[in-house]
Amino acid sequence: MEIRTPRLTLRSAGPDDLEGMHAVLSDPRATLWWSTPPHETLEQTAAWLDGMIANGPDHPDFVIELDGRVIGKAGFWRLPDVGYILHPDLWGQGLAAEAVGAAIDHVFATRDIESLTADVDPENAASIRLLERLGFVRTGFGERTWNVGGVWKDSVFYALSRSDRKTKAPA
Ligand SMILES: CC(C)(COP(=O)(O)OP(=O)(O)OC[C@H]1O[C@@H](n2cnc3c(N)ncnc32)[C@H](O)[C@@H]1OP(=O)(O)O)[C@@H](O)C(=O)NCCC(=O)NCCS
Repeated sequence: MEIRTPRLTLRSAGPDDLEGMHAVLSDPRATLWWSTPPHETLEQTAAWLDGMIANGPDHPDFVIELDGRVIGKAGFWRLPDVGYILHPDLWGQGLAAEAVGAAIDHVFATRDIESLTADVDPENAASIRLLERLGFVRTGFGERTWNVGGVWKDSVFYALSRSDRKTKAPA
């Protein structure tokens, strides 16, 4: 399964993505608001990647490639909840909007699903801005939803309906 956007290729994960994904998941800047602390070993990332691969090639969860380099992931480890992470070297260029937008459009085009969700740390300004730009609307707040490395984190919950994506997404 492969999706092309103007700058990116989104494709199913494979074992060769280990080093690229480890560079992302071991970077403390990238995992500051992630559901786990930075990966310390390649084995940790291998287990994470195995989970993604085990979902199967038709599952809408994608490794992101830029010019042949693996720079992150975007999609749905479990529908309907979206997840994404990009290498910090590539932030601020609209690449997440491009990748996550493509993954969302793919799901709405291929699945009988009316609404997608997201769970984000209230301090994660970039992720919140990204979700709102894609048309997500805030639906709630949860206290102490995640324990990451011994620290409790809160969540803001978001949802995106098919019609919100159609009407609110940028052209
Ligand atoms: C969230 C993340 C994927 C955004 O990636 P990105 O490629 O830099 O995002 P984009 O360039 O597409 O920007 C999306 C929007 O967020 C805004 N934004 C980016 N960084 C920001 C920041 N630090 N603070 C506030 N807004 C920010 C952009 O300006 C843009 O808004 P605009 O369209 O109004 O200009 C990236 O920061 C990341 O990987 N973070 C770590 C992992 C993570 O937190 N994942 C989400 C878990 S819920």
